[in-house]
Amino acid sequence: MTQQEDPVKKNAQKPVKKDVKDFELVVKTGLKAGRARHCWEPTRPAAEPQPGEASGLRAARPWVARSLPYPSELPRAVVRATDGATVQLQTNQIDPTATTPERIRALSYPDFLGLINQWNVPPGALSTLSSWALHSRLGPSSRVLEIACTTGFSLRELATLTGCGGVGFDISAASVDKANRNRLVHAPDAAVNFVCADAYAYEPSELFSHFVLGASLKSLPDPARFLARLVSWMGESGYFLVSPFYTRRPLPPDLVAQARSVFGFTPTLEPYKEMMRAYRDFEIVFEERRTIERETEDELRHYCSSTVSRACQSLGVRDDATRQAIGDRLGTIRAMSNTLRPYQEYAVLVLRYRRSVYPNRYVELF
Ligand SMILES: C[S@@+](CC[C@H](N)C(=O)[O-])C[C@H]1O[C@@H](n2cnc3c(N)ncnc32)[C@H](O)[C@@H]1O
Repeated sequence: MTQQEDPVKKNAQKPVKKDVKDFELVVKTGLKAGRARHCWEPTRPAAEPQPGEASGLRAARPWVARSLPYPSELPRAVVRATDGATVQLQTNQIDPTATTPERIRALSYPDFLGLINQWNVPPGALSTLSSWALHSRLGPSSRVLEIACTTGFSLRELATLTGCGGVGFDISAASVDKANRNRLVHAPDAAVNFVCADAYAYEPSELFSHFVLGASLKSLPDPARFLARLVSWMGESGYFLVSPFYTRRPLPPDLVAQARSVFGFTPTLEPYKEMMRAYRDFEIVFEERRTIERETEDELRHYCSSTVSRACQSLGVRDDATRQAIGDRLGTIRAMSNTLRPYQEYAVLVLRYRRSVYPNRYVELF
């Protein structure tokens, strides 16, 4: 199987004969077979997703395994056709019984963000995307590869803004699952999809015109090795869209320790020139250095309550203690990010690779 294929769709479609019209969905949760209520989504957007008893639900057309997370997400499902053919459907492996306050507090930072479907955006969010799109001439004929896409924000929203198409990948299966769901809900017409892959194993099956990395270079274990791979995917030329953080003044050690305990990783400690060194072999087509305004209590509350409500609805959380635990943890994360702001800036960069130039610098910086 290549990395571009949607494994869920592939599993769902492979053993089903084209003339089979009638399916019985038998869901095995791994906990208790066949009793969970569930929603299913058809292969074509012709019909609305229907809630129903998973066991015994009959569908008039083939179904794929993109189960909707109401009221809980199920580890595994089997679609059985009337002629006896069965299809194993892998869904996101979240144990529905374990969405408790204790589990919310125990999850790793990326797992927590994945669980609540936090839209992990590049620094500058939509405003950065607008600058990238304008200054890299992104349009309907562009093909974009988003690297380390998390829940798919950049590619999905660039497609919405410009009509571009493309592929996103991330090593986290849970994040990729959310990216595909978010695309269905927020950009159903966008010609984009998301796959699970490691940046050090991924091999693109097409030539992309644009490569989006946001602020993720230092999230990858060996940035220099990754950049060498990236360049090998670029053909004659390509735009490389990044928005890395850098420090405007040194962070106090106790703040670094606090941030590490909240995020599980060290925030950027590099000043501007050090950060830019990683990108020195590319041409700088556009650059803007941006300061960050701290968010007010009201702004933080509005964002957090919107995200927590959506997470509780999609996870089927009904008890106040779990809702509170989700809200507290998200609030702590946002408050810590806000505390770091006076120490940070970020650069919106449109970089260009040209085989005829790389890795030399023939254009002065200023
Ligand atoms: C800081 S988040 C990315 C945020 C956002 N996409 C951006 O533009 O800045 C880092 C992401 O890198 C992913 N990641 C880490 N190591 C990876 C690898 N080896 N291959 C692919 N993705 C990886 C993580 O799963 C996570 O989703």
